[in-house]
Amino acid sequence: MSTPEGPYELWSPEVTTNPFPLYARMRRETAVARSRHPSMEGPIWVVCRYQAAVDFLKDPRFAKSKQALSKESQRRYFRVSSLKHLDQHMLSADPPMHTRLRSLVAQAFTLRRVEALRPRITAIAHQLLDRLPPQGHVDLLDAFAFPLPITVIAELLGVPVEDQDRFREWTTTFLTPPKDGDLAPLRRMAQEFQAYLQDFLARRRADPQDDLASAMLAAEEQGDRLTPEELMSMVFLLLVAGHETTVNLIGNGVWALLQHPGQLERLRAEPALLDSAVEEMLRYCGPVRHSTSRFTTEATEFHGQHIPAGQMLVAGLLSANRDGGVFPEPERFDIGRQPNRHIAFGSGIHFCLGAPLALLEARVSFRLLLERLPGLRFAVDPATLRWRDSLLIHGLERLPVTF
Ligand code: HEM
Repeated sequence: MSTPEGPYELWSPEVTTNPFPLYARMRRETAVARSRHPSMEGPIWVVCRYQAAVDFLKDPRFAKSKQALSKESQRRYFRVSSLKHLDQHMLSADPPMHTRLRSLVAQAFTLRRVEALRPRITAIAHQLLDRLPPQGHVDLLDAFAFPLPITVIAELLGVPVEDQDRFREWTTTFLTPPKDGDLAPLRRMAQEFQAYLQDFLARRRADPQDDLASAMLAAEEQGDRLTPEELMSMVFLLLVAGHETTVNLIGNGVWALLQHPGQLERLRAEPALLDSAVEEMLRYCGPVRHSTSRFTTEATEFHGQHIPAGQMLVAGLLSANRDGGVFPEPERFDIGRQPNRHIAFGSGIHFCLGAPLALLEARVSFRLLLERLPGLRFAVDPATLRWRDSLLIHGLERLPVTF
């Protein structure tokens, strides 16, 4: 049994910018590393080796539901109870609740249904590129990577696309650790977002449309299968998960290509490598740093580590995807990498529901970005780019480019 060397300090600004050397050290020393986050009292265990991360995500001993925790453990990890009405979704649930919630929307995200969105996604991408200033200088996140997925998911759900700036602000607050323990912005965000969703769902209930929110309301009325909180939480989850991640897949992918001009040139010369290039972006700089949390309900032995009861664990997805035991030359960005069994979309029953949609959005985006912006390059020294401070998200704050 190894003793935890930690806590490993994962949340300093240097590590946020480049977490990979620390992840490499963690993987050498242990499969499950003890860390801590400044906004939480309890430790966070990061499952950092590939096989351990896959095993962890598939292991029913690790609970998703906070109800599995004692009041004391809940207090050590969660201080904002006002989020609870937005938290009754599939990603916070264990079976059988998880199965019920996921099956209600799974149909809308199958490969076939998603493929039907290709013309609309392509049209939105063209429109955004049409609006770029000629010979321009833009923040590619603001001008393209953010509006594309938020428009797609908003249209799918039926929520007004015009409100996208509010969604972005709320989501950023939701995903950014509180500064100096100040929870007021998080509480305000929860109240505003909740009021917004309540109002939106009331309008859809009165006047159903051809969208996913109306379909979920109909399912609720027929079988009484969703409570109002579950419905609100579902829209919240899809709206947040449906854009924040894809934004950063596009942003990080552009960053990786510009950092590796040889690979960018190779992709321009061999467009057939596009799908494999997107998989390599997911592996090398995927938008999700760590999975969402799971909890031990009793003392648990796992990959040589003893984890007491009532503790929080996450899978270190970026770390697992650089595990040299699985990926030869893991620190190399190789758009032709085969095989590439990365776990950027997670694993097990919570495997990303939106993966087909995210892949389609990314493939359309990179095809058009390469076609339409032939001279794309960084507008600033890439060493000055800042990465967002977040437990979950791996993404740039801004991505200024010229073309
Ligand atoms: C779950 C990644 C895009 C919806 C997940 C998980 C990961 C992930 C890692 C599992 C989290 C965990 O087990 O703790 C990504 C990445 C994306 C992306 C890397 C883009 C590149 C999307 C999109 C949607 C979406 C576009 C839109 C619907 C979901 C949902 C879940 C989920 C609903 C929860 C599934 C469940 O609990 O059964 N995603 N995601 N994701 N994702 Fe995505």
